[in-house]
Amino acid sequence: MNETPILSMENVTKNYFIEGRRIEVLKGVDLSISKGERLSLTGKSGAGKSTLLNIIATLERPDSGKILLDGFDPVKLSDAKLSSFRNRQIGIVFQFHHLLPEFTALENVAIPLMIQVSKKTAFARAKEMLGRVGLSERLDHKPAELSGGEQQRVAIARAVVTEPAMLLMDEPTGNLDNDTGKMIIELILSIAQERTLTTLFVTHNRVFAGEMGRIIELKDGVIHNI
Ligand SMILES: Nc1ncnc2c1ncn2[C@@H]1O[C@H](COP(=O)(O)OP(=O)(O)O)[C@@H](O)[C@H]1O
Ligand SMILES: [Mg+2]
Repeated sequence: MNETPILSMENVTKNYFIEGRRIEVLKGVDLSISKGERLSLTGKSGAGKSTLLNIIATLERPDSGKILLDGFDPVKLSDAKLSSFRNRQIGIVFQFHHLLPEFTALENVAIPLMIQVSKKTAFARAKEMLGRVGLSERLDHKPAELSGGEQQRVAIARAVVTEPAMLLMDEPTGNLDNDTGKMIIELILSIAQERTLTTLFVTHNRVFAGEMGRIIELKDGVIHNI
């Protein structure tokens, strides 16, 4: 019960400057996520959801405040250490799949693993993972030869094949029809349960948000519990 949270944020702020004008996006975010927790982050368009997710993903640095990811302060790590940390600990799925267009589904899933294991092992594990998301028949398809739902399933396989501690998803169903979106959420939930994977699911769809354990909302630059 007393376990260190996988993520803790205290008074995190982030501003953007456009033509000398300051846009305060995060005005003091406090957030603690336990290991294995599943939660949704909602909020209006422009509320700062992607900004917050990118900071948690260590893709962006905050302006001020404290962050600890599994006990590490990512702000203190060098860029090289940070990308290695990210590769091992964090899986990310975006609204648009961000798959490499010139590579097959199998290659897309295997590539991030090759940093950690041999090519042969990477391909074997990628194949297994694609089977888990129901795409054994699509291994040699390139992204353009897959449907939107299939592309997102490849993106999920790619995000979790490295066995990250945390899966961060930025509106992964935003570009899909309702039924496909539901199927994607069920898939994510079942994978998260199997692996005790901490998942943060960003969506502005309240119905989808309700499928996760806890719901938080980003409003006026701070977190509200729902
Ligand atoms: N790189 C950037 N440069 C300047 N402004 C940005 C940048 N990224 C986001 N913003 C602004 O920050 C605000 C929050 O954006 P974002 O985090 O993408 O919101 P959400 O994901 O909730 O729709 C928006 O007003 C957006 O225009
Ligand atoms: Mg966004």
